[in-house]
Amino acid sequence: MSFKKFSKVLFFIFLFHYVSWAQERTVITLNNGWKFKKGKSKPAFKEFFNDAKWETVSVPHDWAIKGPFDKEIDKQKVAIVQNGEKIASEKTGRTGSLPYIGEAWYRNQFSIPQYKDGKKVLLLFEGAMSEPEIFVNGKKIGSWNYGYSYFYFDITQYIKPNKKNTLAVKLTNRKLSSRWYPGAGLYRNVRLIIKNKASINQWGTFITTPIITATSAKINIKTKVTGEHLQIVTQILDSKGEIVGSHKSKTISEKEFNQDITIQNPNLWSPENPYLYTAILKVYVENRLTDKLSTRFGIRSINYEPKKGFSLNGKITKFKGVCLHHDLGPLGTAINKSALRRQLRILKDMGANAIRSAHNMPSIEQLELCDEMGFLFLAESFDEWAVPKVPNGYHRFFKTDAEKDVVNLVHATRNHPSIVMWSAGNEVPDQWSIEGAKRAKWLQDIFHREDPTRPVTVGMDQVKATMKSGFGAVLDIPGLNYRTHLYNEAYKKFPQGFILGSETASTVSSRGIYKFPVQEAKMKQYNDYQCSSYDLESCSWSNIPDEDFVLQDDNPWVIGEFVWTGFDYLGEPTPYDTKWPSRSSYFGINDLAGLPKDRFYLYRSRWNTKEETLHILPHWNWKGREGIKTPVFVYTNYESAELFVNGKSMGIQKKNSKTPKNRYRLMWMNIAYEPGTLKVIAFNENGKPVAEKEIHTAGKPYKLILESDKKTIKSDGKELAYVTVSVVDKNGIPCPIATNQLKFLVKGKGSFRAACNGDATSLEQFHLPTMRLFSGKLVVLVQATLEPGEIELKVTGKGLKKGKIIIESTN
Ligand code: GAL
Repeated sequence: MSFKKFSKVLFFIFLFHYVSWAQERTVITLNNGWKFKKGKSKPAFKEFFNDAKWETVSVPHDWAIKGPFDKEIDKQKVAIVQNGEKIASEKTGRTGSLPYIGEAWYRNQFSIPQYKDGKKVLLLFEGAMSEPEIFVNGKKIGSWNYGYSYFYFDITQYIKPNKKNTLAVKLTNRKLSSRWYPGAGLYRNVRLIIKNKASINQWGTFITTPIITATSAKINIKTKVTGEHLQIVTQILDSKGEIVGSHKSKTISEKEFNQDITIQNPNLWSPENPYLYTAILKVYVENRLTDKLSTRFGIRSINYEPKKGFSLNGKITKFKGVCLHHDLGPLGTAINKSALRRQLRILKDMGANAIRSAHNMPSIEQLELCDEMGFLFLAESFDEWAVPKVPNGYHRFFKTDAEKDVVNLVHATRNHPSIVMWSAGNEVPDQWSIEGAKRAKWLQDIFHREDPTRPVTVGMDQVKATMKSGFGAVLDIPGLNYRTHLYNEAYKKFPQGFILGSETASTVSSRGIYKFPVQEAKMKQYNDYQCSSYDLESCSWSNIPDEDFVLQDDNPWVIGEFVWTGFDYLGEPTPYDTKWPSRSSYFGINDLAGLPKDRFYLYRSRWNTKEETLHILPHWNWKGREGIKTPVFVYTNYESAELFVNGKSMGIQKKNSKTPKNRYRLMWMNIAYEPGTLKVIAFNENGKPVAEKEIHTAGKPYKLILESDKKTIKSDGKELAYVTVSVVDKNGIPCPIATNQLKFLVKGKGSFRAACNGDATSLEQFHLPTMRLFSGKLVVLVQATLEPGEIELKVTGKGLKKGKIIIESTN
């Protein structure tokens, strides 16, 4: 061997060792190069190993979101018992009318140069919809039933070192398996973890902060490990990366290190101050580093007390929360961190401080963002236990899987400071019976066993029944879904001394749509299958927001609420679940595109205590209603305001306690419509004018306006910019009833990902570069490529001056 060759070999040996020793653990996220095939049966043997003809996709992936929407997909004759129905009727759109039902295969080829003898390889799924069966190099290595669970397998014995390995995943989505759009496919991340055999177990750390004083905090870190003669060195880093505490230990009891580290002057985590620390855990075999893991956590205390309610870091805090389903509107269920971040930004601006993951395990990304951005989190697990709601729901697995699903939920997420409560279930029909109460106790005990620091709730809709069955008394936190009239009775009858509005409101509205006469109504239907944005319509079981506000404001023992829902979601088009083409919800405070409905400002006026809210509704474009009564509402944090129509005063309205509505809204019920200008001047408590706002009648649609939620995005192939497209007249006045058909073209270092207009009856496919405006607006999602540079989005519409925007994509 020549010297040159020899030194090359040496170099590679060195490199190999360097890599393997330096990287005690490697995490590979399998995003790219996936092959996908939808089909009934197992691919033929030949095809199983030759996927050349399969579609190439990247993961996270939702195979059903591209549609097309089809009425037949989820047509069912059923009485929805939870909605109080007794007679079956033909339902459409219940699961979004998207083609999620069926079987599909994913394949990925991976190599693991980091592998060598003495290593361990784990394959981790953060969710797979649904009933995943996993094959590595042609051998079935395991399966999992619940599509929302995180789970992993040790695949060390199945892999081929130094060769390409083939991962195949079969997924099966059954019809009648969900009450909403569940999505389909590998919709969350799939990861390979390569580490030494002697190492920290998967999800093996549990960090708690049992003692917090004004000057110090005790941090307890329990770490489950595998291996002999281990020792651990743990360092606590503050957010700047400075070491603020450390501890070394050789003492293992039951394969677990138990360390206490006290740090001085702790910076406490809260929604207002989401301060995060990092624990760096280093595990040594004798003196050789064998594993290194870093885990973010927060220092905070939580407490739930009778009569007083919930306190965070000693301060009484009410949950100003929203429930969220897991779909991301036009993206379907495929997880995307920038889409989640945008949702949370919108909710933060509204003043929300809490999220409930209805009705299943949240994505890890959502929890990371809630830790960083400051949201309290109610992490839910199930919509069904042993008693079915839908024929192919979770009840099929409850007996065999519930415990392991809960264990994985707790283990995978318990270090997130945002989580302050677990939910063992939502409106489970088990709540009727004593057996159900026993099931509640059983599940709650599992949560307690795995995490003694957080309480457990269940969202109950059959409140009277839970008083009888004992179900409500068993829970750490009695959660009431709706049933505002039973709060007082529940407070008296249940022993806990407080009540949570685990699910509230379910008011229905369509962005920018107003119906007359303006009156409160239940299950109201109109010919266009839209709901009125005067925010007075709800379901037979639900109510308008104001009724919950009263309960929250007047009773210290009501510890907060989680409004159904923060954003519209695919499926459950109540009150139009028998009316095709309705295919998505009307419950959202924001629509499916993430655009705020009027209700957003009602919540904001109450929840965002730092910034001003002054919002006028409806829009002022009512050709044909001249002289006809057209009520005007103002949502504001101010106590009173004066309204002017074309300069004429319509009088001052003041918040008062005549009805719940009067307490939270300013309403002028007798305004005769005349085109022109609506102006409102708001007054503070001393009657001083402090703010004003105007809206105007628009002329003909003239020009398209584009506004991006970001000027710059990261060239990581994933990040999205959300561009809101609206249309204005010649004078720049927004045209709120425009419905023009638009076209989108993206050039440069980005691609068109999807569009959405928030219309629950639209059958336009999200991924096609054309869509109609709905109430004058829509949103275009532009995605970064891997190359930095300029991205141009051009939007055109017949007879309209085109709109153009440039977004920078950077490294
Ligand atoms: C609740 C249920 C939610 C949703 C909502 C609609 O009863 O928990 O999943 O169906 O009603 O109002």
